[in-house]
Amino acid sequence: MPVTILGIESSCDDTSAAVIRDGILLSNVTAGQAVHEAYGGVVPELASRAHQQNIIPVVSEAVKRAGINKSELTAVAFTRGPGLTGSLLVGTSFAKGLAMSLHIPMIDVNHLQAHVLAHFIRQSPEDNDQPSFPFLCLLVSGGNSQIIRVNSCRNMEVVGQTIDDAAGEAFDKCAKVMGLGYPGGPVVNRLANEGNPAAFAFAKPRVGGYDYSFSGLKTSFLYTLRDRLQSDPDFIAKNRADLCASLQAVVVDILMSKLRKAAKDLGIKEVAVAGGVSANSGLRDAFLAHARLYGWKVHIPPFAFTTDNAAMVAMAGHYKYLDGEFCPMDAVPFARVVI
Ligand code: KG4
Repeated sequence: MPVTILGIESSCDDTSAAVIRDGILLSNVTAGQAVHEAYGGVVPELASRAHQQNIIPVVSEAVKRAGINKSELTAVAFTRGPGLTGSLLVGTSFAKGLAMSLHIPMIDVNHLQAHVLAHFIRQSPEDNDQPSFPFLCLLVSGGNSQIIRVNSCRNMEVVGQTIDDAAGEAFDKCAKVMGLGYPGGPVVNRLANEGNPAAFAFAKPRVGGYDYSFSGLKTSFLYTLRDRLQSDPDFIAKNRADLCASLQAVVVDILMSKLRKAAKDLGIKEVAVAGGVSANSGLRDAFLAHARLYGWKVHIPPFAFTTDNAAMVAMAGHYKYLDGEFCPMDAVPFARVVI
């Protein structure tokens, strides 16, 4: 009997469903939520309402595109946390209803572990370029910036993490003060491609070990704008590309310097990147440069698996299923969980 897992992701503002059969991806459908753009950030109440609207069509489409009948599902995996409680409740409740009606087990998934396991999604039986253990994974998203030592698909240790803001948050907040909309990361990335990364210098953090900090950079960016705008009200408009390029360069430099240190100290040369910020072209280029300079074997996920998606949830569910780990029907979401 094939193992067919339906994954459901609803931790923030993307409603996503995916089907994985025996570890091979059959479908991955995601509905974003444009409603938040007008507010410059995710509005939790609106996010949970949009999940309610999207979840049934998204799951139906994922099952349809997988070419299966829902009676063929072996288990339902869902994101239990971390994330927005109201958003998580929609996916959790839906998973419960579906699992009960189909008489199949339910598997709870840690969203952060799922991002790491995005590297194990196989799009075809020939797709065999998965990382080998142990490897380091830089997990960078809107809510997290962590260096994780991945010992196996089920055993991960956080070796460093942000003590304040996440890297994606730094991109988003700096983009917001430049009037670039939400989420700002992709816009900063696009503009950075046309700018000079050495045009401006922003503060770099001094934090110990393998930890990160981005709040000082954010303040330094804000103060640069405030000071320059006093003498030139058009400063932002005239320097947008250079500001974005300089911001991206410093974020990438902060991320890579700690990752380099961790890789050297721990003697690990297999290094992956995951999470929404891994879509950033400056960060991807830095990974490729590190592969050349330091002999790293690097793993960069396809764009579809960088931001929140259910394929990674189904993948994490697949491994838990193989270990026979299920979750009870009275499971509640966790807004905060650690790896
Ligand atoms: O993983 P994700 O989709 O959501 C969570 O935070 O869980 O990550 C979203 C973050 C946002 O901060 C967004 O601005 C950032 O990823 N992001 C990028 C790029 N694409 C998405 N940041 C920089 N460059 C990009 N190309």
